[in-house]
This record gives sequence, structure tokens and C-alpha cells, in this order.
Amino acid sequence: MTAIEISQLTKTFGTVRAVDGVSFTVEAGTITGFLGPNGAGKTTTLRCLLGLVAADSGTALINGQSYAHLGSPISAVGAVLEATSFHPGRTARNHLRVLCVSAGLPESRADEALEQVGLADAAGQRVGGFSLGMRQRLALAGALVGKPKVYILDEPSNGLDPAGIQWLRGFLRYLAEETGAAVLVSSHVLAEVQQTVDHVVIIAKGKLVHQGRLADLTVNGSTPVRVVAREADRLGPALERAGGKVDPAPAPENAAAESAAGVLTVRGMTPEAIGQVALDERVVLSELVRERSGLEQIFLELTA
Ligand SMILES: Nc1ncnc2c1ncn2[C@@H]1O[C@H](COP(=O)(O)OP(=O)(O)OP(=O)(O)O)[C@@H](O)[C@H]1O
Ligand SMILES: [Mg+2]
Repeated sequence: MTAIEISQLTKTFGTVRAVDGVSFTVEAGTITGFLGPNGAGKTTTLRCLLGLVAADSGTALINGQSYAHLGSPISAVGAVLEATSFHPGRTARNHLRVLCVSAGLPESRADEALEQVGLADAAGQRVGGFSLGMRQRLALAGALVGKPKVYILDEPSNGLDPAGIQWLRGFLRYLAEETGAAVLVSSHVLAEVQQTVDHVVIIAKGKLVHQGRLADLTVNGSTPVRVVAREADRLGPALERAGGKVDPAPAPENAAAESAAGVLTVRGMTPEAIGQVALDERVVLSELVRERSGLEQIFLELTA
């Protein structure tokens, strides 16, 4: 089921075309990473979805409706935007209770949501004294009170420490897999979300540059492949003749185990193609693996 549908969305601020004809969808039960460098138009797109910015043209729909037409927005969509502001004098519990009351939800949802985001112990503390990470969790709790099936999170790991980031990953997985929610999470760092998301939507300068499964992004031919072969000096030139770009990789971490082996980093060839060249050249391989850091490289190339 399509939970979020953006179609030909365009938004201009003065002379800046912040979002330029962007279209993509987010399905229920999946986590989509919404990626792009600073200023790419991520926040503007999300604000259009949430009815905070009026698009020049195109549509941004949640469950087939524009935000303004959602009957009970807090029960349809949970949002965490950049720099959420809270009344500093209120406690975390009161902040959420006010949200619940104004939306006609039972006040008990406040403590349940605080429990879910790991803030139960701080429920009675004033928000003014909260750390950045605690504010981020409180903002997420606010998104949870209505038990929506759609989540729109703008850079939610900002301010979280490594343990907090790991917790958030697990939590987003839980929302998608256990509750069947659609999760759209933005970031300007692919590495931050690559362990969490199953789909990616990449934008740069307001335009969509890639949309699809994360797994498909990794099979792009430009992902570097790490090759370890005893006769690397013979294999390297053969790979270059086959169209690969070969770099002698940095010294192996485990020098003892690989003392007799040469390590090569090959770009522009799939592992299968490399294996075929090795077979033709009768060179024995001891390792043939796509490098994970290659994803970041693809991201940089796509958004350059
Ligand atoms: N209210 C506004 N008035 C004028 N220009 C704006 C406004 N909001 C955004 N912009 C411009 O639109 C472009 C896209 O900004 P946006 O905040 O959507 O990018 P982003 O992808 O969220 O970036 P970041 O990773 O830094 O959060 C930028 O050039 C920005 O300066
Ligand atoms: Mg932004």
C-alpha cells in the first residue's frame, strides 16, 4: 500500500528552486532513506508533505490525501522536523499530555510514548534542561502518541550519541516491521541510514537523482571491489585490459595472513566480471568482495 506519494512536486523560494519536479512513493512496512547533500530540498519536500509549505505545483499526499484533508492528522502521520521547539518550562509528560488533549487522545498515551522512546525516567523533568538527544527523543514521542502508520522524520539522529543512533535504528525497524508503518527518514549522510533503510530516494539541487532499493544501489558497477590474489601483479593489468580501474589498496590490516597476497581495489567491474578475468588468467583469488564504503562514493557521484 502506498502511504506517501509525491508527484511532480515543485517549490521555489524567490529565485531558488528548492524542489524541482520531484516524484516518489513510500510503501507501508518499509523504511525509505531520503538522502541528499545540504540544501538539496529534503526539508522543503517534507514540509510540503506536512502542509507547512505550499507547493507551487505538484502534489504531496499521505494515505492518498493532502495533509490539510487528513481527518485526524496526529493519528495519520507522526513527524519529527528539524529544530523542534518545546515550551522550556513544561515537563516532558505535560508537553505530551497537552498534545494528547488537543488531539482528543487519552492522556495515558503520553507516558506510553515516553516509555517507548526511553524517556520514562525523565517524564517529570522540565524540557528546558533536556540535552539535544533528549529533545530528539521527546520529539519522536510526540510523533508516536497518535499511533500513526506513517512517519516523517527529518534528520532524526541529529544530536543522538552512538548508542542513541543504534537505538533509533532498531526502533524504526520495529515501526516498519512490527507495526507495518511507512517510515520516511531524511539524512545528508548515507552511512547514517544505510544499515536501517531498505529503499533510498536521493535528491540533489531539488531534483530526484535516484530512487530504488538500497540493494540495487550497491550492485552499481562503480562500487569498488576488493580483490586479494597471490599473483596480483599479473591480475591487475589483465583487469585494466578488461576495462577495470585498478588501485593498489592500502596495506592489509592482517599482514601476517595476507603476507604473500596482493590486495587490489577495482572499480568499474562487477565481482562476476573480475572472477571471469581471474579464471581466464588462471590466477587464484582468496578474496572478492564489494566494498561497503563504495555506497558513499556512489552517493557522492550521484549528488555531485
Ligand atoms: N523559507 C525559505 N526561504 C528561502 N529559501 C529557502 C527556504 N527554505 C529553504 N530554502 C532554500 O531551499 C533550498 C533547499 O533547502 P532545504 O532546507 O529543503 O534543504 P535540505 O535538503 O533540507 O538541506 P539540509 O541537509 O541542510 O537540511 C536551499 O537553497 C534553501 O536555502
Ligand atoms: Mg534539511
